[in-house]
Amino acid sequence: VFDSSELGPDAPAEALPDLPPLLQPLAGDPDFERLMVELAKAKPKAEPAKLGVRGPNGVIPDAIVPKMRCVVIITDVHVPDNDKPLWKAFLKFVADLLPDEIVLGGDFLELESCSQHAGANLIMYAHDVDAGNAALDALQSASPATKVTYLEGNHETRLSRFLSSKAPTLMGSLGLPAALRLDARGIDWVPEDQQPIARGDLDILHGHQMGTGKAHSLPKYHSNRAIEVYGRPGRTVTYGHTHKPQRMTLPSVGGNKRAVGLGCGRTLKPGWLHGSEAGWEHEFGLAYIHPNGQTDYYQLKVVNGVFVWAGHVYDGNA
Ligand SMILES: [Fe+2]
Ligand SMILES: [Fe+2]
Repeated sequence: VFDSSELGPDAPAEALPDLPPLLQPLAGDPDFERLMVELAKAKPKAEPAKLGVRGPNGVIPDAIVPKMRCVVIITDVHVPDNDKPLWKAFLKFVADLLPDEIVLGGDFLELESCSQHAGANLIMYAHDVDAGNAALDALQSASPATKVTYLEGNHETRLSRFLSSKAPTLMGSLGLPAALRLDARGIDWVPEDQQPIARGDLDILHGHQMGTGKAHSLPKYHSNRAIEVYGRPGRTVTYGHTHKPQRMTLPSVGGNKRAVGLGCGRTLKPGWLHGSEAGWEHEFGLAYIHPNGQTDYYQLKVVNGVFVWAGHVYDGNA
């Protein structure tokens, strides 16, 4: 209890801390001033925050995320048409975070060599495969212990569609899992018809599977479509393919159904768009899975190759 009898007539004015504007009317009240001096003395000295070291730069405070499984989801990278600053920043992030798992959400490869679009460039299949292997090498050397799971997207299925129409006798003798040496890399391959995969309360798929009509296109409100097809009470379905971030929540008995469409990792203005506005954005996902399965799912926006996470700026232009 503060004893005001200790307050001398000349209380040390210089020891009085600066008062915020709201408290200034109380200045001059000896009891108040003495209390403020005592409080200032009692205040512990500020120490720089101590961060647990999860990666080489120590940017992720381990104390905050104990025993949680950490899954990073990046989709629609379309190597070799990946956005170079984004990819560089992403690799730095992975090297810091050392996540338990990275899910490549489909269309990791562009595979233009197998495109049957009229305007496709003549690219050698070996060139596409080499670019894919180089990108996987970079990803796995950023965090060697991270489990990688590769979802087949519609760009990966270009190979089987090309073979079935142009060289059906080669069907089954050429495949991306072998070309990308996924077995040797320890990477799991998830074919389009075995998606979504479940991680915590997230269900993850590429997204082309929701397409309708001849063109297998997705509607403008694709997150609505995702809930219609894959929505489950209390769970979140997340997907790529559209390259356009979008989310929706639908009330449901047993928990809301949620859908999160992720942006992409590819370049945003490829020549074949001929300048049209596609609405694509750069983004990837980060999920922390609690021991009870609750999943905190963040979408990290990347703008011009730069994003911020855990107080650290990741700049792929540097
Ligand atoms: Fe895509
Ligand atoms: Fe796609």
